[in-house]
Amino acid sequence: MALIPPTAKFLRGFLLAGLLAGIAGRTPAQVPEAVIPDDPRVDALLARMTLEEKAGQLNQPSAEHATGPVVRSDDERELIRQGLVGSILNADTAQECNRYQQLAVEESRLKIPLLFGLDVIHGFRTEFPIPLALSASWDPALVEQTARFAAREASRQGVRWTFSPMVDIARDPRWGRIAEGSGEDPWLGSAFARAYVHGYQGDRLSDPTAVLACAKHFVGYGAAEGGRDYNTTEISEVTLRNVYLPPFHAAVEAGAGTIMSAFNSLNSVPASANPFTLTTVLRDEWKFRGFVDSDWTSVQEIIPHGIAEDGRTAARKSFLAGVDMDMVSSLFLSHLPELVRTGQVPAGRLDDAVRRVLRLKFALGLFDRPYVEIPAARKPADDPAGLELARRAAEESFVLLENRPVNGAPVLPLAGGRARRIALIGPLADSAADMLGSWKCEADPHDVVTLKTALEERAVRDGLQLTYARGTDIAGSSGAGFAEAVAAARASDVVVLALGESGGSSGEASSRAHLDLPGNQPQLLEAVAATGKPVALVVFSGRPLTLARAAAQAPAVMLAWFPGVQAGPALVRTLFGDVAPAGRLTVSVPRSLGQVPLYYNALNTGRPRQDPIGMQGRAPDPHYVTGYLDETNTPLYPFGRGLTYTSFSYTPVKVSTAKLSAAALNRGGVGVTVGADVRNTGRRTGVETVQLYIRLRGTSVARPVHELKGFARVSLAPGESRHVEFKLGRDELAFWNQAGVKSVEPSTLYVWIAPDSAQGEPEKIEIAD
Ligand code: NOJ
Repeated sequence: MALIPPTAKFLRGFLLAGLLAGIAGRTPAQVPEAVIPDDPRVDALLARMTLEEKAGQLNQPSAEHATGPVVRSDDERELIRQGLVGSILNADTAQECNRYQQLAVEESRLKIPLLFGLDVIHGFRTEFPIPLALSASWDPALVEQTARFAAREASRQGVRWTFSPMVDIARDPRWGRIAEGSGEDPWLGSAFARAYVHGYQGDRLSDPTAVLACAKHFVGYGAAEGGRDYNTTEISEVTLRNVYLPPFHAAVEAGAGTIMSAFNSLNSVPASANPFTLTTVLRDEWKFRGFVDSDWTSVQEIIPHGIAEDGRTAARKSFLAGVDMDMVSSLFLSHLPELVRTGQVPAGRLDDAVRRVLRLKFALGLFDRPYVEIPAARKPADDPAGLELARRAAEESFVLLENRPVNGAPVLPLAGGRARRIALIGPLADSAADMLGSWKCEADPHDVVTLKTALEERAVRDGLQLTYARGTDIAGSSGAGFAEAVAAARASDVVVLALGESGGSSGEASSRAHLDLPGNQPQLLEAVAATGKPVALVVFSGRPLTLARAAAQAPAVMLAWFPGVQAGPALVRTLFGDVAPAGRLTVSVPRSLGQVPLYYNALNTGRPRQDPIGMQGRAPDPHYVTGYLDETNTPLYPFGRGLTYTSFSYTPVKVSTAKLSAAALNRGGVGVTVGADVRNTGRRTGVETVQLYIRLRGTSVARPVHELKGFARVSLAPGESRHVEFKLGRDELAFWNQAGVKSVEPSTLYVWIAPDSAQGEPEKIEIAD
């Protein structure tokens, strides 16, 4: 149930205090009308515009450096002078933005300023961990801070629009773009969507540091068949509404200025020409006030999709479906005036699109302050506040998945006599560029502190002996470096092994058909582990990899994702226990490639392999059940999993009532309070991410076996116990059914509080009529 949303800063303190957890993941609501206000100047300007100038406002060419195929090579400078460009993407310095802006505001007839857009995805100059890593923090307030910081850096250069956040739910780690989102869960994904929007856009768009957010890719892009980027998606309306749309809706409710239409076809209709999603849902149902940008040439791409045979038809279909601005195809510019003149596109639709664009330009203050000050020479990412935030964000994102004892004590944290001689091995230990992951924006590898550099500093400080051996290349096939690596391991007390993917193996157009550690890294691990020395494996990747064999060989395994500029310091502080890892998986880690797509909030099926709740006492048949002959159905590590350097216990969950009324809940009535005591049973202070799950049975459509409906990060001292409580009301219990209605249905509710999605004992609540 929604409580009055406190401010983000307060929220963070509030959650860590662990007083009340039901609001976790909510950043302050904003009223979209207040975020994107009407401005009387919009219509006054519109009245003076020619059809060509109107189409120009919807035209978005790219500055020199392309992030996709280029279809037309106009001189965009000349187009700007003629008033035929509304936005430029990929201009990334104040000088460049000002130069383009001058053409618009001094040389074009109506002097309408340009809006500069850029992929500021996880930092501008100061690079933070990739979004998937940030999501593992389960800390929306932290994410809001990283987005705010990135917005400050970007806006200083004139960039007032970022193509972020990517809020696509992703259930298939073959899809490289899983790296860019917040994982597989719509509840958590919605919390992060709000956090990014608030962070980028700040309190007021008119603030010169406010940067428009763009929730992308609308919609269903993450369900690409086979995990192949740009591929077809088929998603039922029930699943679309319950799983894929909620993070977009959250972004719109938070006031997101723009939405990007996706490349994929959704149920046979290209998403960039889909009237159901772009108009029925986005405008009619959600009352979206911003504008829709196409993805890069996605208007043009409806031709190869097969629903248009020429550019004119592509422009018409896409525009009528609800795309307002055309990224790079320039088909709107070429065809909209004529389409309006011939009555094939209503003039009102054109005015509506232009109004949306102008309204945001006014809201951003671009008419009043079109230029930015040219900053002093390009500086390294050296703002101490930014670096501190980058380090903290990385520390919060690491997910410890194994920490088995060797000689009586867990391998991590590295401490005392057990770790005086350290062998640092692996191709990712000293690879600055890879630490930035994909979409590194303006980040410079020179700003990255690698694990090797940071570990060397620690070794000098603490008088440790450090030996480094690269071992192999990321995609290496030669075993020439193995001997040196094995010798380093033999001469050590403990091995820190830095393995994984290259930074460019995830992100756009970077799907993989294999999810193993690339090249001969598995053989390197095997050779190092064969020395018998304890191995702390640090995995760098933009997706979950299949790590079953690696985890059997390495007693400690920590996912580091791509941690950004402060990779090394954050890792060293975590490995040595200055801070304890607290990240939790936001994606399931498969055992085998054959299991994907694999996600925790799946449906039960009629023949589940195991199901204590659903089978009503009957044991599943040992053979005729859903699954594989040669693999289990469970992930290697489930959604929500993550260890730290202490341990926690949970009391059984307590509910405030055993009976609810669907009708009362649908009227917004009081729900149920669910609570448990969480105790730190170890010897160190630690942060526990307490998770609330539900399951509904007896509903009109099948509901998932687990659904996250709340979470709270609680910091507990050794021996300390805290009562954590969540509220469940309409927001948590309603879902979309086949009739296209969202409501709480009479059903049986199971609810539990647990450290991850694979644990916990449910309590039962009846939801009567
Ligand atoms: C294509 C990508 O799909 C999108 O995410 C990105 O924002 C645009 N290119 C612009 O670079």
